[in-house]
Amino acid sequence: MTKQNTSDRLIIFDTTLRDGEQSPGASMTLEEKVRIAKVLEEMQVDIIEAGFPIASPGDFESVKAVATAVKNSTVCGLARSLDADIERAGEALKPAEFSRIHTFIATSPIHMKEKLRMQPDDVLAQAIKSVKKARQYTDDVEFSAEDAGRSELDFLCRVVEAAIDAGASTINIPDTVGYNIPHQFGELIKQLLERVPNADKAIFSVHCHNDLGLAVGNSLASVLNGARQVECTINGLGERAGNASLEEVVMAVRTRQDVFECDTNINTRIILPASRLVSSITGFPVQPNKAIVGKNAFAHESGIHQDGVLKSRETYEIMRAQDVGWSDNKIVLGKHSGRSALRSRLEEIGIKMDSEEALNAAFSRFKDVADRKHEIFDEDLRAIALESQATLEHTHYHLVSSWVCSETGETPFAKVTLKVDGEEVNGEAQGGGSVDAVFSAIKTIIKDHGTLELYSVNSITSGTDAQGEVTVRLEKEGLEVYGNGADTDIVIASAYAYLDALNKLAIATEREHPQYSGV
Ligand code: KIV
Ligand code: ZN
Repeated sequence: MTKQNTSDRLIIFDTTLRDGEQSPGASMTLEEKVRIAKVLEEMQVDIIEAGFPIASPGDFESVKAVATAVKNSTVCGLARSLDADIERAGEALKPAEFSRIHTFIATSPIHMKEKLRMQPDDVLAQAIKSVKKARQYTDDVEFSAEDAGRSELDFLCRVVEAAIDAGASTINIPDTVGYNIPHQFGELIKQLLERVPNADKAIFSVHCHNDLGLAVGNSLASVLNGARQVECTINGLGERAGNASLEEVVMAVRTRQDVFECDTNINTRIILPASRLVSSITGFPVQPNKAIVGKNAFAHESGIHQDGVLKSRETYEIMRAQDVGWSDNKIVLGKHSGRSALRSRLEEIGIKMDSEEALNAAFSRFKDVADRKHEIFDEDLRAIALESQATLEHTHYHLVSSWVCSETGETPFAKVTLKVDGEEVNGEAQGGGSVDAVFSAIKTIIKDHGTLELYSVNSITSGTDAQGEVTVRLEKEGLEVYGNGADTDIVIASAYAYLDALNKLAIATEREHPQYSGV
């Protein structure tokens, strides 16, 4: 089955799980992809690109799992213009209520000559063949002319016309290498809509990369010129410098309804929870000054600004923080709050626990944090929920306990007990500091630990009893993974983050990552 669009609707196609996962280090497990997909569905994203099924068995299973779990959004699978890719995508998408196959082939002179080593007419023929093949699996077929942003207009028009004739209902125009400038890219969309004779039979989409920091600008220029689908990712994740960020595109269009003739169907209050979830799963921190979802996006530092906002919010704010999921950060719960208070506050801030088991895990973690920290803020609750959900998922290593001795003039010493595939194992070591000692103790148990490339600590709220959020990056044979952990004790938060990264490293090594599959 497919869903249709009207021209005052801007379709949001999220590719966090596909192009987003192509960010070096952003590999996600099947369970994590399903969790993100469920949040995207709740946000009312129209199309969720769940992966590239031919890339690896893991990608195939993830697309299938998302297709099974998601009921209201269309689930999409990527395929090159090759029979085997399309068959694999069709197979993975079978369980979907609404499915789309997204097939692509490059149309720029450089890609055709150097990468594909094909003549333009052969590319055209293959595009037609692949769209027809995809139509055997679903009537919702998207065709992408890869590197359209550097393609010759006449040839691009021919390919687009032929793809529509062959049955593509969405035509995607990617700026694959982020080379375009907004007025130029907007003009490209305008030209295509004017020159392709059957352009009215398809929705025109754009997919912009951020190599020059222009992905959102190029996407918006295209919308002003008639594009009605934007491909984007949460937090702008994606290959190299990333894709257009969903939150920025959606909020620009929503905030400037005086300029845009269309709007999205997005429930914007889910934007912040989605951003936090993706950041926590991938370990990619969100920069504080990031529009919409950065810690400082709605913070007013200068006295003049604070005074203005207190007198009238609109003096310095063009959006309401609450509309994108921020809360006013008041104390929300304390150590005497019960399970149902926790559940209802989590729901109010856009976090639904997957199961009673997940809620129980979050509750016990909440009690633990509340014992050590009197005031629990929404930001604490987000960290608690994400942390407890992660520990429930299938992972190899869990922290059971840790003990650290740190004394002036003495070498710090740590003991840890881990559960490794269900069995308790102990380790101990000295280190340059408490964190170093704990990491060294963990390394005595887990030998396959790669190289620590980054370690950073951020405080989630203010005060010395605040939870510290630790990010760790590990590298092994060209594979990078991030891990996150939060706790009021930064040594324990560090152990959580390190184990999170080690779990990801183990999982990434077990399954072939699309980046390394040679596709
Ligand atoms: O950037 C790109 O061109 C892509 C295509 C597969 C749409 O990701
Ligand atoms: Zn891309």
